Amino acid sequence: MRTVAFVIPFAFETSLRFLRSALSLSGVRVGVISADPLDRLGPEIARRVAGHWRVNDPLNAGELVQATRGLAKQMGSVERLVGVLEQLQVPLAQAREVLGLPGLSVEAALNFRDKARMKDVLRRAGVPCARHCLARSPAEAKAFLAEVGLPVVIKPQAGAGAKNTFRLDAASQVLEALAAFPPSAASPTLIEEFVTGREHSFDSVCVGGELVWASVSRYTPSPLEVLQNDWIQWTVLLPREVGGPEFEPIRRAGRQALAALGMTTGLSHMEWFQRDDGRAVVSEVAARPPGAQITTLMSYAYDADLYRAWAKLVIGDTFEAPERKYAAGAAYLRGQGQGDRITAVRGLERAQAAVGPLVVEVKLPRMGQARSSSYEGEGYVIVRHPRTEVVQEALQTIVTQVRVEAG
Ligand SMILES: Nc1ncnc2c1ncn2[C@@H]1O[C@H](COP(=O)(O)OP(=O)(O)O)[C@@H](O)[C@H]1O
Ligand SMILES: [Mg+2]
Repeated sequence: MRTVAFVIPFAFETSLRFLRSALSLSGVRVGVISADPLDRLGPEIARRVAGHWRVNDPLNAGELVQATRGLAKQMGSVERLVGVLEQLQVPLAQAREVLGLPGLSVEAALNFRDKARMKDVLRRAGVPCARHCLARSPAEAKAFLAEVGLPVVIKPQAGAGAKNTFRLDAASQVLEALAAFPPSAASPTLIEEFVTGREHSFDSVCVGGELVWASVSRYTPSPLEVLQNDWIQWTVLLPREVGGPEFEPIRRAGRQALAALGMTTGLSHMEWFQRDDGRAVVSEVAARPPGAQITTLMSYAYDADLYRAWAKLVIGDTFEAPERKYAAGAAYLRGQGQGDRITAVRGLERAQAAVGPLVVEVKLPRMGQARSSSYEGEGYVIVRHPRTEVVQEALQTIVTQVRVEAG
């Protein structure tokens, strides 16, 4: 019997799905640490947890330590402290260190969370990545720009979801940005050279520091382009074949990057660019499972429950590598227009007639739903088929035919 503390700050659907998988494992007792009261997590979860501890600030390592000790009194000594949310990874590591629990170290968690530090580590290890500068003054920013030229990307040091991330193409835009948010020692600005290439993810499993399994997905277009263009709906494609020469550069760079950052045992989410000449450039790496439905897409492509596989991996240290049997993809449905509420979803019947048999999962935007600020939009359609081209075409059909209106 293994006793686990699972941190789920709030009842977010994705986190709940990972929690349910942990609860479904045999020989495992799961206690939950959350800011939400237990009944907010649903009756099924409330019935199955072995303990619950409520915290005020789930991102505070000290509170996580207290909570884990509190849970231990309810259900016996805790052997694992886990959670999937990006912002949790450093406090989780800090709490584990105090409690003497196994898992990613604080140093490694910081490598994954702080994008400037991440790129320093990657470059030192010889992993191809964008040149960057954590500018602490406007003068430092200008010196970096003189070195790399335009365009550049500015982003938060510990960002997520492409929030406050901008591509700057003209010198005037750069001067404006520096004037609006002057970098300082207290609030530095992360600037990166702009990488051209097709953006992808590399989602992989390490056990004891060894890379044992990897999945690749292709983003069309890049999340940043989606956010910059109101009318674009995003797609993610998991091609059927990912073992061939096309992805050899990322398998090599991915393995090297994870070793340099200090990945031990877990499912991590890397983003990377495939240059026109085939080279791979690593963009960023997160020490947690992928969001944006990619864990669901992997489950369809491999015909295996990757949520459960994650739970087994981080709780039991074991992973049975599944084989890819299908191509799978998601078309994200995103409202366009002036308003901030969803008023209509058009073109569903035509899309249904064209690709209906390929659809395995749908979440439609609800009428009246608040408009999302994310590149994921308000809904999605997931399709799957043994052939990559069939899935790719279906995704294009969906994003061109289905129109979500906001008014
Ligand atoms: N150096 C870069 N060159 C080109 N595009 C970039 C670069 N950095 C970020 N982007 C774009 O911005 C998006 C968000 O940046 P990212 O570093 O992945 O932060 P987040 O943690 O918010 O996902 C990326 O998915 C990519 O489309
Ligand atoms: Mg990203």
